[in-house]
Amino acid sequence: MSKPVLEVRGAHKRFGAVHALKGVGFVARRGEVLALLGDNGAGKSTLIKCVSGVHGLDEGDILIEGEKVAIRTPAAARSAGIETVYQDLALFDNLTPAENFYCGRELSFPRWLPRGLRLLASRKMNHEAAAVIDRLKVKLPKFDAQVALMSGGQRQAIAVARAAVFARKVVILDEPTAALGLRESRKVLNLIVQLRDEGNAVILITHNMEHVVELADRAVVLRQGHKVGEIEKPNRSNQQDLVAMIVGAE
Ligand SMILES: Nc1ncnc2c1ncn2[C@@H]1O[C@H](COP(=O)(O)OP(=O)(O)O)[C@@H](O)[C@H]1O
Ligand SMILES: [Mg+2]
Repeated sequence: MSKPVLEVRGAHKRFGAVHALKGVGFVARRGEVLALLGDNGAGKSTLIKCVSGVHGLDEGDILIEGEKVAIRTPAAARSAGIETVYQDLALFDNLTPAENFYCGRELSFPRWLPRGLRLLASRKMNHEAAAVIDRLKVKLPKFDAQVALMSGGQRQAIAVARAAVFARKVVILDEPTAALGLRESRKVLNLIVQLRDEGNAVILITHNMEHVVELADRAVVLRQGHKVGEIEKPNRSNQQDLVAMIVGAE
């Protein structure tokens, strides 16, 4: 079995009186889809936000390829090779898809650059971003339109595509299909397979058990901030065990 590319040990997170994570640990491996399951409020988003540098852990460790790392900002997570598609998306409404792609990244260009050069850099950005969106086979009406004018599916596609472009080790998707129709969901699922086959560890948060059975190599279940179980190779016959763990039935 391959060494975990990502490991979380003993994660605790409190928001005031709310103890959102109570000693959670898990591993994620390259070439594997890990489903992270649990009812609303179980702590799934909090856990991945800690791994992605949005929140800091109160206690616990994050290890990348066996080494403890301090992930205190989203930029630190990205440079550690972790890309995240957040449940609340985090796209900038007033920017175009291309600008959203490269926001806060190397390709951004300084204001003092002559106008012509800025235009060239911006064309390059548009071109690269369009190529990835195209890979996702999502139709955007106008690629240079502001994201605010786009549908939920189109916005989701941009967010997933952005993660796909920059993914190097771990891709985390927090309920990426929750707002999507069947055809749009299928595109996202296809991209998950592609990311996995490219050697990333994919962490998928979803309430869709069909998707879990279809894609997940392993499933970890959280309930009220605790990790309550883990199942290898979720399938039709152990799906009921997973659902029981999620809702807390004996
Ligand atoms: N920024 C925050 N401030 C205060 N409480 C939070 C915050 N984020 C999450 N929580 C609380 O932490 C718990 C876990 O939430 P969350 O991680 O979003 O669950 P899930 O993603 O599994 O639905 C909930 O009780 C939620 O209200
Ligand atoms: Mg959530």
